[in-house]
Amino acid sequence: MSTTTLAPIAELVRESATTSNPEILQWVTEVAELTQPDAVYWCDGSQDEWNRITSEMVESGSLIPLNMNLRPGSFLARSNPSDVARVEDRTFICSENEADAGPTNNWVAPDAMRAELMPKFQGSMRGRTMYVVPFSMGPVGGAITQLGVEITDSPYAVLNMRIMTRMGQAALDGILPGGEWVRTVHSVGAPLEAGEADVEWPCNDLKYITHFPETLEVWSYGSGYGGNALLSKKCFALRIASVMGKNEGWLAEHMLLLKLTNTETGKDYHLSAAFPSACGKTNLAMLQPTIPGWKVETIGDDIAWLRPGTDGRLYAINPEAGFFGVAPGTGETTNPVAMDTLWGNTIFTNVALTDDGDVWWEGMTDSVPAHLTDWQGNSWTPESGRPAAHPNSRFTVPIQQTPTLSQDWFEHDGVPLDAILFGGRRATNVPLVAQSRSWNHGVFMGATISSEKTAAQEGTVGELRRDPFAMLPFCGYNMADYWGHWLEMGEQLGEQAPRIFQVNWFRKGDDGRFLWPGFGDNSRVIDWVIRSVEGEYEGRETPIGIVPADGQLNLSGIEEVADDLDEIFEIDPKSWLAEADMTEEFFAQFGDRLPAALNAELEGLRKRLGA
Ligand code: GTP
Ligand code: MN
Ligand code: MN
Repeated sequence: MSTTTLAPIAELVRESATTSNPEILQWVTEVAELTQPDAVYWCDGSQDEWNRITSEMVESGSLIPLNMNLRPGSFLARSNPSDVARVEDRTFICSENEADAGPTNNWVAPDAMRAELMPKFQGSMRGRTMYVVPFSMGPVGGAITQLGVEITDSPYAVLNMRIMTRMGQAALDGILPGGEWVRTVHSVGAPLEAGEADVEWPCNDLKYITHFPETLEVWSYGSGYGGNALLSKKCFALRIASVMGKNEGWLAEHMLLLKLTNTETGKDYHLSAAFPSACGKTNLAMLQPTIPGWKVETIGDDIAWLRPGTDGRLYAINPEAGFFGVAPGTGETTNPVAMDTLWGNTIFTNVALTDDGDVWWEGMTDSVPAHLTDWQGNSWTPESGRPAAHPNSRFTVPIQQTPTLSQDWFEHDGVPLDAILFGGRRATNVPLVAQSRSWNHGVFMGATISSEKTAAQEGTVGELRRDPFAMLPFCGYNMADYWGHWLEMGEQLGEQAPRIFQVNWFRKGDDGRFLWPGFGDNSRVIDWVIRSVEGEYEGRETPIGIVPADGQLNLSGIEEVADDLDEIFEIDPKSWLAEADMTEEFFAQFGDRLPAALNAELEGLRKRLGA
């Protein structure tokens, strides 16, 4: 190949390229010319590559290797203290029309955003290596699978992407000229002048997380942190994919995915569930049932893609290949399966370091170590009066290490869904479980997911913080159109549609304690859900949905809960009517884009409540 006519940067791209796809080559060249990296490297996803990049990062001080005997193949990264979470106020949906982004997203016109952003990317990778990271969301070639490429100047992002996605040559080879794929660009926004020393966690005070749904692009600038830098996850698999799904007839959801086997009949079921962040998806995904009769296996803990199959049922995949989970609160008592999964090959971010080179975080063990190095690298003792691990500290771990992993995670074309759960964190009003009266009623349940504001947050205590479908920060288009898409999906699926339920593990008594034991005991709710789907268990009609009839919820072994059962299922018409008023207010912001069917559901609810 003659390279004499190419500019030096274009030459760097062509010489290193591991694809001949002209569209990819052209795009990578354009980004390289814009960002001006010192080197270009195409990732193949191999173990050698992992070893090389981790060694370089250990050498440069960006990764701390953990004790090989305690946590083999694992590393600790410490972020800049200002770069520890997703930045919702710096997250933008840049659709051509503002109305398409809807009232719940930050919107900037694509041209205006490009004009503002491209000067930031100009030379932003100077002094650094530009990594080209091809990845597949789902098994390469699968019916629900999508492909993408992330260009990044962060080796930390590369390592995390190798865990979180099917990353490497197979994904790159899967992208055919003329085919659909998502282009994502990430820069930490910290170019290095010649001879300038790097810092452990480069980033920029100014951050942009931008999405261009019409051209299937993500441009992320200034942050090295998970949700802002691993662009396969929230940016692609939810924000961009939700728009692709709307256009192509499928759904991208903030949902866990489970396989359930009835051990008596041997019959399999699949269930997905949408709960807002920090409301227990990862916990439920790793459920250890406390009642006999069920085997529960993990397929996904955060994102599910749903698409009608040729047989007319709704099929689901977990498009990811790893867990990016919150560490604090994960321990032997709350989530033993997660603890087993984390035995090695894990990247920890912003947790504490023990004196023998292992990790620790609040809630990991009952006893607190006498001495630690905290997430910022300072000496720490229990008397320090501050958390040792950052509250949003994380682990990144391959899903294949999960002891409860289902073989269905590998299913090329996904698994058929039997039930969908929607849940929030509700101290009042919402019963433990209720089946929707219809698909449309289920969509209404999803659209009204909420948690109460507590004294810790701004606003009136008791006011509802809405998080429809747990997608408020993740829906890449107008939320009202999204509800409309769900309603249409129901029409298309008809009788074959999964049944929809609402759950709430978090109801509290007047004394402030949780009324329902939760965690493994949530298997009792799942048991009722699946038996209801099968028509084996009876329900009782209430104004808000169908709840278990007397004696239909298995409480054997936790008989004491029976005393609280009335409270757990109490439906107070007055509070529910007040809630209906809040729902009306919430819906109002969507104007005439709100699907009429949701108004009809609201009116139906009011009537059943006796309004
Ligand atoms: P993201 O990964 O951020 O999307 O959130 P997630 O939905 O996976 O949240 P996660 O599982 O990390 O939420 C954990 C929080 O929920 C912890 O505070 C748990 O103690 C709590 N939790 C999970 N399951 C239960 C339950 O059944 N009952 C109660 N009371 N708390 C629970
Ligand atoms: Mn989670
Ligand atoms: Mn999440």
